[in-house]
Amino acid sequence: MVKAGMDEGFNEPITVAITGASGAQYGLRLIEALVSANHEVWVMISKAAYLVIATETEQALPARPERLEEVLVERSGAVPGQIRCFGREDWMAPVASGSGAASAMVICPCSTGTLSAVATGASNNLIERAADVALKERRRLILVPRETPLSAIHLEHMLNLTRLGAVILPAAPGFYHQPVSIDDLVDFIVARILNQLGIAHRLMPRWGERSDGRENA
Ligand SMILES: Cc1cc2nc3c(=O)[nH]c(=O)nc-3n(C[C@H](O)[C@H](O)[C@H](O)COP(=O)(O)O)c2cc1C
Repeated sequence: MVKAGMDEGFNEPITVAITGASGAQYGLRLIEALVSANHEVWVMISKAAYLVIATETEQALPARPERLEEVLVERSGAVPGQIRCFGREDWMAPVASGSGAASAMVICPCSTGTLSAVATGASNNLIERAADVALKERRRLILVPRETPLSAIHLEHMLNLTRLGAVILPAAPGFYHQPVSIDDLVDFIVARILNQLGIAHRLMPRWGERSDGRENA
């Protein structure tokens, strides 16, 4: 199926939802990486995520989708039209229906609240609805939860979602690549998400690959 944007020269759209778990940087960096890979990116940011972003970063993002689009385009170096933002109850957005939804959606970071809503099919806002659509259409759905410790409720929801075909990719960076900055830790997780999406990147070498990109002997 030809999706909006592909006829403008972008690779297929990927939906990115940022919710109110700690680790907004993961989601913002993911948008940048998808833009670098020439993908069209459809963005939704939950109300709680705006508060987390203002707390964790030096940037307060505007809530109005048109303004948010402008800021994200500038911040990520996107071409105008490459990023589209949708509001909390924008039920006419393509992500709200199986006929318009992107082939992949990433909720990054994913709060336990949104995790629970997705696991139970609540669909009370556009992020939850888009994830529900991804599940019913058997599209790729990746959730990046961040919470610790995890309760039985969280774990049961994660198990149910995994069984439904979603990928649970916890925001739990490794340290074997000897990170020297927070960016290195953020890129570790974003690289894992891109691997799941099958998108080539140079954020960090894959296991068994040397940092110059060649395979180990
Ligand atoms: C600064 C800040 C940090 C938070 N960190 C987390 C977190 O790491 N994990 C989580 O599940 N919720 C966290 N929360 C709570 C969620 O934001 C809250 O449950 C909210 O209702 C989630 O709504 P959403 O899923 O619509 O974004 C945090 C809230 C704030 C303000």
